[in-house]
Order: sequence, then structure tokens, then C-alpha cells
Amino acid sequence: MTLQKNQRVMCSNPIWAALLSLLVALTVFTLTVCVSKNPLMGASQEKDTAVQGALHEEPPMREVAGLTRPEGDKCAVPPESRFDCARDRALSQEECEERGCCYAPLTQSISNGPPWCFYPPSYPGYRMGPLSPTPRGQAATLIRSVPSYLPRDVSTLRLEVMAETERRLHLTLKDPASPRYEVPLSEAQPGSKSEIRAPLYTIEFHQYPFGFTVQRRSNARVLLNTSVAPLLFADQYLQLSTSLPSGLISGLGEHYTPITLDLNWTSVALWNHDMAPQSDVNLYGSHPFYLVQEEDGHAHGVFLLNSNAMEVVLQPTPALSWVSTGGVLDLYIFLGPDPQDVVRQYHEVIGFPMMPPYWALGFHLCRWGYTSTNATREVVRRMRDAGFPLDVQWNDLDYAESQRVFTFDPQRFADLPAMVDEFHQQGLKYILILDPGISSTATPGSYPPFDEGLRRGVFIRNSAGQPLIGKVWPGPTAFPDFTNPETKSWWEDNIRAFHDRVRFDGLWIDMNEPASFVSGSIEGCPDTDLENPPFVPAIIGKRLNSGTLCMSAVQNLSSHYNLHNLYGLTEASATHSALVKLRGTRPFVLSRSSYPGLGRFSGHWTGDVRSDWDQLRYSVPATLLFGLYGVPLVGADVCGFGGDTTEELCVRWTQLGAFYPFMRNHNDRPNAPQEPFVFSPQAQDAMRAAITLRYSLLPLLYTLFHHAHVSGSTVARPLFLEFPSDPNCQTIDRQFLWGNSLLISPVLERGETELATYLPPGIWYSLHNGRPYYSKGQYLLLPAPLDTINVHLRGGHIIPQQEPAMTTAASRANPFLLTVALSASGGAWGDLFWDDGESLDTFEKKDFSFLIFLAGQDKLVSKPLIVNRALDGLVLGGVRIFGVPSKPQEVQANGEQVKDVVYFSDTKMLTVSSLHLPMAEPFIIQWIL
Ligand SMILES: *[C@@H]1O[C@H](CO)[C@@H](O)[C@H](O)[C@H]1NC(C)=O
Ligand SMILES: *[C@@H]1O[C@H](CO)[C@@H](O)[C@H](O)[C@H]1NC(C)=O
Ligand SMILES: *[C@@H]1O[C@H](CO)[C@@H](O)[C@H](O)[C@H]1NC(C)=O
Ligand SMILES: *[C@@H]1O[C@H](CO)[C@@H](O)[C@H](O)[C@H]1NC(C)=O
Repeated sequence: MTLQKNQRVMCSNPIWAALLSLLVALTVFTLTVCVSKNPLMGASQEKDTAVQGALHEEPPMREVAGLTRPEGDKCAVPPESRFDCARDRALSQEECEERGCCYAPLTQSISNGPPWCFYPPSYPGYRMGPLSPTPRGQAATLIRSVPSYLPRDVSTLRLEVMAETERRLHLTLKDPASPRYEVPLSEAQPGSKSEIRAPLYTIEFHQYPFGFTVQRRSNARVLLNTSVAPLLFADQYLQLSTSLPSGLISGLGEHYTPITLDLNWTSVALWNHDMAPQSDVNLYGSHPFYLVQEEDGHAHGVFLLNSNAMEVVLQPTPALSWVSTGGVLDLYIFLGPDPQDVVRQYHEVIGFPMMPPYWALGFHLCRWGYTSTNATREVVRRMRDAGFPLDVQWNDLDYAESQRVFTFDPQRFADLPAMVDEFHQQGLKYILILDPGISSTATPGSYPPFDEGLRRGVFIRNSAGQPLIGKVWPGPTAFPDFTNPETKSWWEDNIRAFHDRVRFDGLWIDMNEPASFVSGSIEGCPDTDLENPPFVPAIIGKRLNSGTLCMSAVQNLSSHYNLHNLYGLTEASATHSALVKLRGTRPFVLSRSSYPGLGRFSGHWTGDVRSDWDQLRYSVPATLLFGLYGVPLVGADVCGFGGDTTEELCVRWTQLGAFYPFMRNHNDRPNAPQEPFVFSPQAQDAMRAAITLRYSLLPLLYTLFHHAHVSGSTVARPLFLEFPSDPNCQTIDRQFLWGNSLLISPVLERGETELATYLPPGIWYSLHNGRPYYSKGQYLLLPAPLDTINVHLRGGHIIPQQEPAMTTAASRANPFLLTVALSASGGAWGDLFWDDGESLDTFEKKDFSFLIFLAGQDKLVSKPLIVNRALDGLVLGGVRIFGVPSKPQEVQANGEQVKDVVYFSDTKMLTVSSLHLPMAEPFIIQWIL
């Protein structure tokens, strides 16, 4: 970027024109490191030299004045472009101006509108020195000669810029003098070693005050511009602002929001907290990642790898400011260009999600309040008697003696091991809850998890070096430090010892924000900068230690101040690896707290949702967003956890829940029961139909998980990811897709029996009866009676199904069915990933089957590309073909005539049944028109 271009941009905007002369006077130089065909040098020696040369030739800079009160017209910044100079605390006019900032009170409230105290343009900042090559890219030193208004500025920074792939750019800003805490991220893909030929980006630096812009090369769109506000980097306050190319931004969870965020002066706090989902508060997880739809089908993403308490301020410019309370600035930029590419590129950095065991996709039933083995047996029996599929029965903390984990109640759960064995004999799996808090008040010698934990030094310590004691369900508890390698092996030993007694199949790790019923510890916290930083994001409880541990608590890797947001992730990792070691099969872990990378180890449920319609509706974006975060195994508690459900709500929730990637009905103790069998016969029929439909679709769902596992795609997918150029899809979050083919349109409002359903351009067939809808990209009003959920299959796609059964163990042995949705030109395709459903690393060990299905105008072909023993004995039992124009004269399977054929002329659906074609072998089905 040159000064000339600067002028052009500013002159095009009358407000900027007034500032132009000032800026010129300041001699703003822009360092252009993008030479015409390369984003960054780094790869080639020649270009490094070219840039070095350019820097040497640069005339010396003039120092900018210190913090003086800005002159009048310097403050003529339009309200929406003002960046808050008082994020850390409210300031008087005098205090604001002492910072060298502009003060201009507006009539609106300060909490939800443009800031009253804001930076003038070219506020003093860091000066960037020359770039020099490093093994990974390029680096420069940034120096701040004028102190900021924050305590303990880091006045010298090292900037490193790494063009890691053609689509991924990585920038770090660190303190070169003394290492600061950095998030350990083991999974990041190093990027291509080969020369980067055609990067999708260019990056340009502004030397003083330091800033950079990243542009999309193809259209020169500015994706990030950090010169919009000053960079601040003090010990406990790091701030980086950027413009956004559009207001369509998704991410920055975990919050109770629609799929795109509100930019009207909102801020979101990222700080893991035990908090029932509701608006405007920080919930259980932190995901400092956003994706921006650029309005022309392109998208980019940004990940700030930082785990400190954070606030992200959104304003209508559109622009965003990251404000973090510690660590370093470690920024990944993903260029897409499609939204799906962005997600994949992000998952390449944080790690692709684990492959769940097949049974994890079945129906799960849980309640806090199944108070004995017999009560638990009773619900399983009633589920069976009422004909509901059930794969996994759960127990909440009811099972534990005095609510202490790794024990079970000697009266109420005396025969827990026998109960679990019975469930296994019925083809069910069993999961129980495992909280991290370890009771510290049992009689010494009576509770080995604590005694051994003390001996092995596994607990988080307070600043005096003693185990920090908080309070959770069992009363006073110590908290394992999962960043300590010794803790991982102690945790594994405890899980193993417990598993030797109770053969559970997976673990549910709750309360792992970590949550505590006293703030800090039972003894409070010391009065230090960690407990009382100069800035606390707008979090629930207002203090960082509210409902959790002291910030000064000591963990192996760093302070809890730095590691808090990683607690659930580190626990999930330890739990996952313990299960791998002791069971030797694919683990199932479900974690409430989350951080980028959780999906490698665990699924997630959205916590303590209430049984109401609003929570039902927002469970859709919550589920879709966790897909973007790399945690595809996700869902909300079906029928709601808190409060009494109603029959209608529970039916609708079960219909939607049948399409959560993870489906569990879970209820809190005091509420009306909500197992499917407690409702009226009609409601039960509707629920049974929904759960059974899910079971019939599990081969498709499993195949989608396979793709997520090997290529970072999404399972439950927002429409904008699949139809990025359709403006109608940009904000849709009441409907969603499974993969690229199945459109789910749940009823989310009470009393609704018709649903305005958006169908993106193309042919969509009702999954229930094959009725086609030819859409130009429009809303249709479809019937949505209480007994059905609208599901449409996209023309051009084939999905694998299987006859449902009462468990996945049984359904996996049933005949397959293929549903073929012909496109306008009569083609379709689909695939199936299949393995034994539970062995570790079947893809990596090539112990799986992979089949491709192709349809033309009058035939369907199966091509098994890879076949293993998992397909032994499995057959194709039938086919449904949507969009067959007329009744065929004859249908043949592998050349032989098939008798069991029905053609529905009203919907143009052809069904072929009573087939018996081995799935492991190629086959061809022809319909002769
Ligand atoms: C970046 O923002 C600065 C400050 O608002 C502005 O002067 C500059 O023109 C912007 N750069 C680009 C490429 O938009
Ligand atoms: C933004 O929020 C303010 C204050 O709540 C409100 O008055 C205004 O209408 C909102 N603007 C938009 C575009 O939603
Ligand atoms: C469970 O029920 C059986 C059979 O009724 C009974 O013998 C047993 O004592 C009960 N167990 C518990 C823990 O209540
Ligand atoms: C971290 O844990 C390892 C292994 O338990 C131990 O050797 C080391 O001293 C611990 N470091 C700190 C800072 O606690």
C-alpha cells in the first residue's frame, strides 16, 4: 500500500478528507511487504533482500507527540467509527483527555452505544522496525516510546509473520525479553514447506503507529485493518482492533445467540463459567474464533490463540476489538475462500474432531434423580416396553456415595456393577457423570482418590503451596491439575480402578469450568494483580474468580489466571486418553466446558437449558456453532433440563433432537418427568417416529462424522456454509443441514402447525414421501403437524440408511436402504463409511469400508472402493428413488427382474424392496422406463 492509495481511500470519504492534511503532516509511511505476486517474502531470499532494501531507503520517521489533549477536529470521528479508549474503566472527561483521547458524551447510555471517550486517529502506538527473515517467515521489532495508559506496558514486542499456507497466515506478537504464557497447542499443522505460489492474501504493514491490513488478493477486499485503533500490549491488557468487511460475523462463543452476532455495540466475554444458557452472559466455553461472510460467497476466519479472560467488542462500523487480560497475541487468519474452507482451515490448526463410537449416535436417556439402580432399571424397562430405541442409559451424581466420584452408594446403587452388566446384555451402553472436584473431607484412609492425589501432588495449589479447596457437590473439594503429567496418570489409575468395578462405557465430565460454589476458595484469595487485574471483561459475577478458583492458584503449566479456560479441555484430554488405555476402544467423553481443540477428545452438550420454546429455538444455532468450533458431537438436553416441559414442547424438542448430532433427553431432579413413555399415546407416536427416523439415518450421520474426522467438515451445518452465494441463507438458523444433502426444518414455536420453510435453489424432496419441490430459492409454507418434522433431501444426493431397531447394535445388522434424490438432469451420488463402529483409528489403520453410490437417469450403481470385514453379511434391502418421471416397465437388480416394486405417480417415487444384495459387492439396479 502506498501513501497515494491512502489518500485515495481517505478522499473518497468526506470525513477522512478533513483529516488528510494532518496525517500527511505526520508523515505516515506504509511499509509494503507485498510485492506484486507474493504475500510475504519469507520463502525466497531474493524477496527478503528486496524488502530489506526498501526499508533501508526509507527516510527517518518523525516522532509523534506524546499524550497531549487532542485538538478539536482531530476528534471529528463519526460515532460508529469510534474505538473505546476507556474499555478498562469508566473515565471522567479529564481522565479521558489525560490519556490523549477524545471526550464527546452522547445522549445514549454509555453501555450500549458509541464510546464517549475514544482514540483520535494516529494515537501514539508502537513503531515497527525493519522486517528480517526467520526460519518460519519474517520478524520485526515493535517499540513503544510513548507509554500507554496501562500498568506495565510491554514496550518492546517481537512481531513474527508466517505465511503458513496459501490460505493461512499466522502472526504473533510476543515479548522478546521475557517469555509470557502461551497456550499449548499441539495439534497445529505446520503448513506446507513448499513455496507458496498463489496465496489468497496480501499483507501490508503500517510502520507508525503500527498496524497491518490483510486483503483478499482476488478482489482486494480489506479483511482486517488493525490501524483503526491502537495496539495495546501491557502485562494484563492486550488490545487489537480491526475493521470487518461485513457485519455477518459468527463465532466467539459460547453464548446464547443467533448464528450471526449483533454488532450494535455489543460485547461478548470469553470466560468459562457454570451458567445456564441465557442472553448476554459468558457460558461454559470459550472460542476466540470468528467467521465473516463477505457477502459475495467468500468468507474468512480469524482465530486468536489466547486463553485468558477476554472481551470482544463489536461495533457497527463494522469492526471488532479483542481485549485480553494476558498471554500473547497469536493470530491465525484463514482465507477460505468459501466458508467451508475457512472451517476446515481452522480445524487444521485446532485438530480435526475425534471419530465417535457408533453407539454414541443412538438415543441417550438421563436424569438427575434416578436415585437407585432399580429406578434406573425401571426407566430402561419402560423405554423397551413402550418400543422406544435406546442405546445409552446414564446416571447423574445420584450413583455416588456422598456425591464423591469414583464411589457408588452402598445402598441405593449396591448392585450397580450388576445393573451395568445387565444393560450390556441387552445391547445397551452405560455412562455416568464424573466431576473433577475431589472431596477433601473424607476420613483419612477412606477415600483413596484424595489420599493418593495428595501424595502424588496432583491438585491445584493455592498461593501458599497447599491444595486449593473449593466447594462442589460433595462439599469441600480439591481440583486436579490436568496440566501436570502426574495428574493424568493418577486420573487414569482412578478411572481404571473404578472401571474394574463398574464397566461403564463412557464418561460425562461436568462442572469442569471448573465450577465451585464458593468464589476462589473456602479461604478466599490473596489480594494480587491476578485476582484484581486492571481490567475485567464483562463477565457474570464481575470477578474472575466468581464461581471458580482463585486466579493466583498454581498449576503445573502456569497460573489458573492463564489456564482457567483450558480446564475442561485438559480434563477431556486426560479422560479420553485414560479411556483409550483401559478400554482399548473408541472413547466417549462429554464435556460441558470447552476450548478450541475439545472436539479431538470429546463431545459437548449445551448445559442447563430450560424447558421453554426460546431455549429450543436457540439450541439450533448453539449446535451449529459448535460444529464450526470443531465439536460436531453436540446437542442440547432434549425437552430441556430446567423446569417442567410440556407435551407439545417435548414432542417438538424430540423431533429436533433427532437431528442433533448428539441426542440425549436429560432432566433435572425437581421437574415433571419427561421420558418419552410418560406422554400421551399420540405424543409417544410422534416421538417414536422421530427417534426411529434418526436410527434409520445413522449410516448417513456416521459417514458425516467420518468426513469431519478426516477433513474437518461439519456434520450439522448452517445453510450459509453450503449455499454461500445465496443471500437468503446468510442468517438462517432455524433450519439446518446434515452434511450437504439433508435439510431439517423443525417447528420451534408453540402451536405452530405450518412452517415457513426456506428451500435453497434446486429440487428438494420430502424425505417422508418423496414429494418434490422445485425451488428458485424461496420460502414455502409447509404443513408441520405435531406428528412430523419436515426433512428434505436435496436433488443430486443419495443417502445410506438402515432399517431401524431398538439399539444401534441391532440396527447395524439390519438391511441397508438407499434413498436416491435425482437431480433435474437425473443424476445423484452419495457415499458410505462403515467400520466396526468402535475400534480405535480404523481410518488411520485402513480397517474400514468405503462405498460410492452413483445414479443416472435409469440406474443406480454401488461401487465399493474399500471393503473390510465390517460389511460381512450386510445387504441392501431396498431402494427409494425420488424423481422418476414415469412408471418403469421393469426393475432389475444385477440383471434380474425384481418383483417388489411400487411406483407412486403423484410423487414420482419408485420403491424397490425385498432386495438382498451384498453390500460388499458392486451392484446395479436399473429401472427400465
Ligand atoms: C486502515 O485503517 C486506517 C485507519 O482508519 C485507514 O487510514 C486506512 O486507509 C485503512 N487501510 C485500508 C487498506 O483500508
Ligand atoms: C442499537 O441499539 C440502540 C440502543 O439499544 C438502539 O436504540 C438502536 O436502534 C440499535 N440500532 C440498531 C441498528 O439495531
Ligand atoms: C431392587 O429390586 C429388587 C427386586 O424387587 C430388590 O430385591 C432389591 O432389593 C432392590 N434393590 C435396591 C437397591 O433397592
Ligand atoms: C510439573 O510436573 C512435573 C511432573 O509431575 C514436575 O516434575 C514439575 O516439577 C512440575 N512443575 C511445576 C512448575 O509444578
